[in-house]
Amino acid sequence: MTKSTLLITGGAGFIGSHVVRLFVNKYPAYRIVNLDALTYAGNLENLRDVEPAPNYVFERADITHPEQLREVFEKYRPDGVIHLAAESHVDRSISNPVAFVETNVLGTVNLLNAARNLWKDNPGGKRFYHVSTDEVYGSLGEEGYFTEETRYDPRSPYSASKAAGDHFVRAYFHTYGLPAVLSNCSNNYGPNHFPEN
Ligand SMILES: NC(=O)c1ccc[n+]([C@@H]2O[C@H](COP(=O)([O-])OP(=O)(O)OC[C@H]3O[C@@H](n4cnc5c(N)ncnc54)[C@H](O)[C@@H]3O)[C@@H](O)[C@H]2O)c1
Repeated sequence: MTKSTLLITGGAGFIGSHVVRLFVNKYPAYRIVNLDALTYAGNLENLRDVEPAPNYVFERADITHPEQLREVFEKYRPDGVIHLAAESHVDRSISNPVAFVETNVLGTVNLLNAARNLWKDNPGGKRFYHVSTDEVYGSLGEEGYFTEETRYDPRSPYSASKAAGDHFVRAYFHTYGLPAVLSNCSNNYGPNHFPEN
């Protein structure tokens, strides 16, 4: 019997596809729902090996559309969310910042609302994990490092939109008690990396 359901957004992207594969294979008793809009950056070829797994399901949905999220949340009632879906390419954010606001800010808030609505009466054991970037802290020189205490200092429309998303995650934690965590990793490289990056 399926014990828990984990919703992973952006699972058809570079990092998301590795996260989906890891969870599908490592936790066969978990149902893994991959929610992705399949933008230019999403590619289900990244997950062909995972598709036959009985604990894996794909849902095409756009986080900028709350009604699509409502449907998915009602259908699967996830116990946890790993939120990776984003507009993620800095150069594109310079030519089209609005798309980054829509997905990385509004889309993140839509997802927070969906989780809050589902979990508000029973938040125990639930977790919303927001995947962000170290670019919210600005730029390092030749040396040095960021910590969780580093002041936010985004320098591109991409990092500004991720910073805004981070602030909303913290706000939902403090205001509504949403069980949320976030991380700010540095650049990742590897298989399934979108060529442009
Ligand atoms: N790649 C890195 O080095 C890096 C570093 C730090 C943080 N991050 C963060 O990690 C996450 C994943 O990064 P990535 O490099 O795998 O990105 P990616 O661009 O390869 O994948 C993003 C995925 O999100 C999906 N998506 C985009 N807009 C959507 C929407 N409106 N609704 C639903 N799905 C949508 C795309 O279809 C794609 O599958 C992002 O949140 C990014 O900010 C990435």
